[in-house]
Amino acid sequence: MMSQDDLKRAVAKAAIEYVPADCIVGVGTGSTANFFIDELAKIRHKIRGAVASSEASAKRLQGHGIEVLSLNEAGDLPVYVDGADEITRHMHMVKGGGGALTREKIVAAASKKFICVCDASKLVDVLGKFPLPVEVIPMARSSVARQLAALGGQPKLREGYTTDNGNIILDVHGLQIMNPVELESALDHIAGVVTNGLFARRAADVLLLGTPEGVKTMTA
Ligand code: A5P
Repeated sequence: MMSQDDLKRAVAKAAIEYVPADCIVGVGTGSTANFFIDELAKIRHKIRGAVASSEASAKRLQGHGIEVLSLNEAGDLPVYVDGADEITRHMHMVKGGGGALTREKIVAAASKKFICVCDASKLVDVLGKFPLPVEVIPMARSSVARQLAALGGQPKLREGYTTDNGNIILDVHGLQIMNPVELESALDHIAGVVTNGLFARRAADVLLLGTPEGVKTMTA
């Protein structure tokens, strides 16, 4: 019987195929991204380095002797590899369960290809069962929460948590997200919202889905 970790390891291995020789790789955050970092370590002499989407991933990369560059130094990247909390067949995602959504969205936006690596449990028909993370400037907490409630969600403060950027996260429960592209834009227009966890305007290009029958490659 394959464990969830076996599935994550399998997709992490498969993602290595998408890393061009001699490039700087965009690297995501979370347990699946961690398996990818471990695989990247095996080919570290074939790449120039990595741009990390979190302090945690930067540390893990450096621990493996992989050079971590800032996005400003690196410029545009050929490929970004990251997990997701939920993904649809249209390649729209909810991300930010690990709290790194802002840097993830920035690095993804600067990358030519987004390769999403997930175990089969992440594939859903409709996004929103996983509470949608929204990174908020601390002084705007209650006003943003009220506006999120007006949109039909139940925002809950992620207790005792501060993002790498010094902000808070409101996890929005109870949403059934039928129009992810529109909701992503609407949330971005709320004053005080830094980033929301919908990755729909810039969806994944390739989904490597870990199933007990093997890794399935999907595109929109
Ligand atoms: C991190 O902020 C998230 O966007 C991650 O991509 C997400 O939480 C996936 O993590 P796992 O690979 O641990 O499920």
